[in-house]
Amino acid sequence: MRVDVVTVFPEYLAPLGLSLLGRAQRLGLLAVHVHDLRGWAPDRHRTVDDTPAGGGAGMVMLPEPWGRALDAVLVGEGPDGAVGERPPAAGPTAPLLLVPSPSGTPLTQAWAHELAAEPRLVLACGRYEGIDERVLDDAASRYRVEPFSLGDYVLNGGEVAALALVEAVGRLLPGVVGNPASLEEESHEQGLLEHPVYTRPARWRGLDVPAVLSSGHHAEVARWRREQGLRRTARRRPDLLRALLDADPTALSADD
Ligand code: ADE
Repeated sequence: MRVDVVTVFPEYLAPLGLSLLGRAQRLGLLAVHVHDLRGWAPDRHRTVDDTPAGGGAGMVMLPEPWGRALDAVLVGEGPDGAVGERPPAAGPTAPLLLVPSPSGTPLTQAWAHELAAEPRLVLACGRYEGIDERVLDDAASRYRVEPFSLGDYVLNGGEVAALALVEAVGRLLPGVVGNPASLEEESHEQGLLEHPVYTRPARWRGLDVPAVLSSGHHAEVARWRREQGLRRTARRRPDLLRALLDADPTALSADD
């Protein structure tokens, strides 16, 4: 998979070179290209923002640097305006442009799986009060544009959300996580939260690892884990439990 990230803070994306995703890049499973938006600013001060139309606090990102940047990154047009390829028509195979925004569609594990099947993702990280809406309207005529949100809170810009999305998607690519079985048991893969986990020592600060985990009874361990996952989901995320039962009223009774 190829991932392009456009940002005014390219250094923010440096952690993608660490750990599992760094290894994935060295193995050629993932290629991450980070671009500085200011390279497409038309003026010598490399300005990328201006005051909001209609007044109000903060700054809004200018359309021209973004328009140039996205055309260059998505279809190969250089900052000088030379076009490398004809822009594609928007459709199911058009390039996918992901825009981090607190008003985007919430990112879920199911969506991360869909994104992991894409050959290429382009992320446009806004700052300040956001990107002039015409950039997305214009892009939507040629690309698939998907604003996404990490959650119902506001970050200072899209970079942290881009890091999160690339990690969530990148770890699903074949070969990135050593043991694919470990992916299946995680929170959100079955629509529930994962059970608690323990390791050695058997007793630590007066707290014991639950006895069933040392029993050697695989079926009992599996039943205990499922029950713990259910309890945790009911306590912390009753919305997930309701969604699971709405989709399939027998979902929780099947193997108990
Ligand atoms: N940019 C600012 N806040 C955000 C959020 N919650 N999710 C994604 N991008 C954002």
